[in-house]
Amino acid sequence: MIELKNVSVTFEKENRKIQAVSDVSLQIQAGEIFGIVGYSGAGKSTLVRTINLLQRPSSGQVIINGVDLVQLSAAELRKARKNIGMIFQHFNLMNSRTVAENVAFPLKDLNLSTAEKEAKVSSLLEKVGILDKAQAYPEQLSGGQKQRVAIARALATDPSILLCDEATSALDPKTTHSILDLLRQLNQELGLSIIMITHDMNVVKNLCHRVAVMAEGQVIEENGIVEMFTQSQNPLTQEFINMATHFDWDYELVLEEMREANTLNDYFIARLSFVGHEVTEPFIAQLARDYQVHCNILYGNIEALRGSFVGNLVVTVEAKAADWEKSLVFLEKHQVNVEILTDKEGTKWMI
Ligand SMILES: Nc1ncnc2c1ncn2[C@@H]1O[C@H](COP(=O)(O)OP(=O)(O)O)[C@@H](O)[C@H]1O
Ligand SMILES: [Mg+2]
Repeated sequence: MIELKNVSVTFEKENRKIQAVSDVSLQIQAGEIFGIVGYSGAGKSTLVRTINLLQRPSSGQVIINGVDLVQLSAAELRKARKNIGMIFQHFNLMNSRTVAENVAFPLKDLNLSTAEKEAKVSSLLEKVGILDKAQAYPEQLSGGQKQRVAIARALATDPSILLCDEATSALDPKTTHSILDLLRQLNQELGLSIIMITHDMNVVKNLCHRVAVMAEGQVIEENGIVEMFTQSQNPLTQEFINMATHFDWDYELVLEEMREANTLNDYFIARLSFVGHEVTEPFIAQLARDYQVHCNILYGNIEALRGSFVGNLVVTVEAKAADWEKSLVFLEKHQVNVEILTDKEGTKWMI
């Protein structure tokens, strides 16, 4: 229902060309929550701004419900934009107007009576949970409340698409969760399609159905969130996942320190990865009972993704080589992925 076809955006700056978006093609279904993850400068904001043509692509097509926005006249485009709401990191509210006036702003060109507008604003504020703040000014609100006002304003023209550019990046973790909950609820109740742009995989992991990773203007990987966490081979995607799951440098540092202190002698260290709903067997217990393979959990994380739990355990293994080999067949059958860890020199941590 949203289709980007070979979209590129080039900026000219002091006679230099900056290719901010480079030949991106994406399809996003109606009712889907789609994440776009990438570091700062990857081209995420530029790409998302092409969806409502706030940024005109240098080439390519932006097709919404079968209509290429690039081909529309100014008047047609104004009408098409009512179907697309947008929210931002810094909320972009008008500080001299009340909450109710901010939310009423997009209604000004519509043929509604004052009473109809007031009713509409009240129902929007109720939907986002801040009806009691209708007469307050933005500076009297917390960040989370401001983002709720911005969401109400974005929904004023009853759009079917909501674009969110780093919408939770200025919020603390608890407020972030409450905004993500609100977005999930709006997706379910209104069938709203949501595109979430973020540098933080944590924001999208339990919300988005599918995710794309962007770098240097390109989409380098696109997948379902569980598939991405369990199957991605891409080093950059791995960086984002490792940050979200805390399998980052802290954990590598501790392993290295333990090795230097000889704590890890006589063991080998393995990382076991699994998708929770596919493992119906108590596999750690079975390794010991049926294979004489004894694991001690050193470190671990079980991630709650949309619809699944995905686990990663770092274990020391005490076993005879032949028993370990046999257990690998069992683990593979139960879709537990096994990686033998190595130190920085690439030496395997094993006997
Ligand atoms: N209006 C502009 N003029 C010139 N360069 C721009 C403009 N907007 C963005 N860029 C450049 O395009 C690249 C992508 O920027 P942006 O889309 O904001 O990335 P992100 O949102 O992923 O941080 C950056 O190198 C940025 O400096
Ligand atoms: Mg940006």
